[in-house]
Amino acid sequence: MNNDKLRNTVKKLRHHKYSGVDEIVGIEPKNRYGKISKKLVKENTALYVDTNSQKEDEEIISSIKTLESLRAFMSEYKKCELHKSATNMVFSDGNPKSKIMLIGEAPGHDEDIQGKPFVGRSGKLLDKMLNAIELSRDKVYIANIIPWRPPNNRRPTDDEINMCLPMIKKHIEIINPSAILLLGSTATYALIKNSEGITKIRGKWFDIEINRKKYPMLPTFHPAFLLRQPAQKKFSWEDLKNLKSRVKN
Ligand code: URA
Repeated sequence: MNNDKLRNTVKKLRHHKYSGVDEIVGIEPKNRYGKISKKLVKENTALYVDTNSQKEDEEIISSIKTLESLRAFMSEYKKCELHKSATNMVFSDGNPKSKIMLIGEAPGHDEDIQGKPFVGRSGKLLDKMLNAIELSRDKVYIANIIPWRPPNNRRPTDDEINMCLPMIKKHIEIINPSAILLLGSTATYALIKNSEGITKIRGKWFDIEINRKKYPMLPTFHPAFLLRQPAQKKFSWEDLKNLKSRVKN
């Protein structure tokens, strides 16, 4: 560095010092973000969604590769009004490495308070159902179509379901399960768009394509329905055995 340059640098440093700068990281500015991969930058843009169009949101969602980024995106997502009355966003529970994914409708009161899916009365029954096929919550992965509790536990509207659909589809893609158990008519309708009711289509496998990959899905009764109609448990038992044998093979 020649004398002029040195003098100039000292002048600048003095100026910084008097402006309150008390730490020097380097003389020349350096782009410390230059080496961050495009992937990381894209995933971090997942946080900025408030003013995005639906198409922009979908582009961001399609670039998301990890559960952390998906969770970050969803916790910033304000277009679905349900977040306003919810106490917590309910993202998921269980083992992200599991081959089995369970998808419910939306959190209820207990789930909203605890921020975890299926922890209330229907969750207790679900735990028993899983135990019956030698599984448990930590051996499967559990999420909902809608991550926020609808007021008074009302059924989510079609608009709410459609708004949240790209997020649950991305969730499925990241978990990449070999089989998905759809708990109840809302989860089933959201992903399969069936015209027949749950009583008719439960127990049948459907392949649903997400981003050019097919995921086998098995609709079954929702545990809350089984609490009201215990006589239907025998059908769920058949579905659980069906699920277990599919994943074993
Ligand atoms: N019902 C659901 O569908 N999901 C939950 O998380 C709890 C109850």
